[in-house]
Amino acid sequence: MSVTGRIEEVKSEALRAVAGAGSTAELENARVKYLGRSAELTDIKKSIGKLPPEDRKEVGRVSNVASREIESALASRTKALAAAEREARLREEAVDVTLPGVPYPKGHLHPTLRVIDEVVDFFVGLGYRVAEGPEAETDYYNFTALNIPPGHPARSEHDTFFLDEGLVLRTHTSPVQIRTMLEGEPPVYVVVPGRTYRRDSDPTHTPMFHQIEGLAVDRGLTLAHLKGTLAAMARHVFGEGLKVRLRPGYFQFVEPGVEMDLSCFVCDGTDPNCKVCKGAGWLEMLGAGMVDPAVLEEVGYDPEEYTGFAFGMGPDRMAMVKYGIPDLRMFFEGDLRFLKQF
Ligand code: PHE
Repeated sequence: MSVTGRIEEVKSEALRAVAGAGSTAELENARVKYLGRSAELTDIKKSIGKLPPEDRKEVGRVSNVASREIESALASRTKALAAAEREARLREEAVDVTLPGVPYPKGHLHPTLRVIDEVVDFFVGLGYRVAEGPEAETDYYNFTALNIPPGHPARSEHDTFFLDEGLVLRTHTSPVQIRTMLEGEPPVYVVVPGRTYRRDSDPTHTPMFHQIEGLAVDRGLTLAHLKGTLAAMARHVFGEGLKVRLRPGYFQFVEPGVEMDLSCFVCDGTDPNCKVCKGAGWLEMLGAGMVDPAVLEEVGYDPEEYTGFAFGMGPDRMAMVKYGIPDLRMFFEGDLRFLKQF
């Protein structure tokens, strides 16, 4: 066979290989095989000088045409394959934006927090300001300034956790009364939610529990204002139409001191076997009273000019009653099966 005939044969073989290549890797193999340094066509070109002079021109021309044709076939096949591969990758990586998303789990408000929110919202609606104080409190704010001097027997009621350097874990939110009054002049209207601590643990006591303190100091405040305010708060949280009653209560920093009961919102005193009030018809709600003049003097307020009332309630207990939860300790175990019920 003539050299040019062979070239035509190699060329068509190369073009078939290029056309049949299924990937860019196969194309590269074909390029090496038909145009590379040891390709047959390359050898032919190198040996043109050894051919009879009258053939050289024609063989040179035919072999150049063959090279160019193979090259351009390679180029367009490379382009086509690259586009196909890109297409395939895009299809594989495509995101179907119409598919439903993965739902993100929703949390729940803790029952205590719900009661705190309801109480605080109520007082903010009356124009009270929210105040806070530290949980590691000085002996002075927790006791002495509240008319409970060192050595006074009222201290023993508090089952205090003592820290170093004269600090205690506050046993109630009442120290924030003192902090608030020292910050400025009357009138004062604050509500103080927070954590409190006492060495106590049984179905109705936990070492950490919550309190919401309230303090109002102004000209002309009386026990009637205290009762009306707290009755409205109790109805807001537990239900319209409920009755409240005051009983004498003892707290060092109020005079007179009271405890407030709420008529049972489940049986209203009609069921001797009521699970919530145990047949009493009343539920203990909170401690309160008129701010003791000794406390007003301690913060530099004139007790002849100003009077005030204060109250402290336990939102954990309130949540137990409101949601019928038998054991306070369940509130702090973090068991999701418990929390999901609210
Ligand atoms: N601090 C009291 C307690 O923890 C409650 C209270 C607050 C009583 C304000 C009267 C006035 O028991």
